[in-house]
Amino acid sequence: MTEQTELNYGPLAGLIGAWAGDKGEDIAPEPEGEENNPYYETIVFEAIGDVTNAESQRLVVLHYRQIVSRQSDKKVFHDETGYWMWDAERDRVMHSLSIPRAVTLLAGGKARKEAGATVLEVSAKLGDSDWGIIQSPFMRDNAKTTAFAHTINVSSNELIYAQTTMLDIYGRSFEHTDKNVLTRQ
Ligand code: HEM
Repeated sequence: MTEQTELNYGPLAGLIGAWAGDKGEDIAPEPEGEENNPYYETIVFEAIGDVTNAESQRLVVLHYRQIVSRQSDKKVFHDETGYWMWDAERDRVMHSLSIPRAVTLLAGGKARKEAGATVLEVSAKLGDSDWGIIQSPFMRDNAKTTAFAHTINVSSNELIYAQTTMLDIYGRSFEHTDKNVLTRQ
């Protein structure tokens, strides 16, 4: 793994750095209905270099850490980490994430240019043989993540994201959504 900052990070390049935003909107499940949590957060993307797989696939990689706090009590209520990877030859963007509920996933997708911004779109589905979701037996039985879709739109000083996590919880299917607008720090 080389850690050269002069590597070409392609569509991931615009993410590198520290971001903060306080316009977050979280919709999360409750036994009866849903909770609505306005939030603020920081996300730090660090360029960590390239890797070679099976002597033939070359990925450039960012590591990120996202820390999210409720506006109401200023407490951290979501802590996430993972990698964004770009395979230039196959024109593929990949996003792995872990959250401390014993849920982890690998989402795959594409990047495109749109009106001067870069749009990254990835998704994963439970049981998908390419882009899947892994969770503990407890979560599988009680709060199952069945699908995940995430879009980031990044321009020089603004990062906008929206994500939907589909859950089977409390005997029903629930659309758990999060979105925010962040500025470069
Ligand atoms: C900004 C991002 C996110 C925020 C702020 C957030 C927040 C929340 C909140 C407030 C709950 C309700 C339970 C509680 O009060 O602790 C919840 C539940 C849950 N979230 Fe998230 N979440 C985020 C992203 C994700 C992602 C990316 C996943 C998985 C891919 C995920 C999976 C779950 C699961 C499985 C539950 C059900 C657990 C339960 O309610 O008992 N969340 N989330």
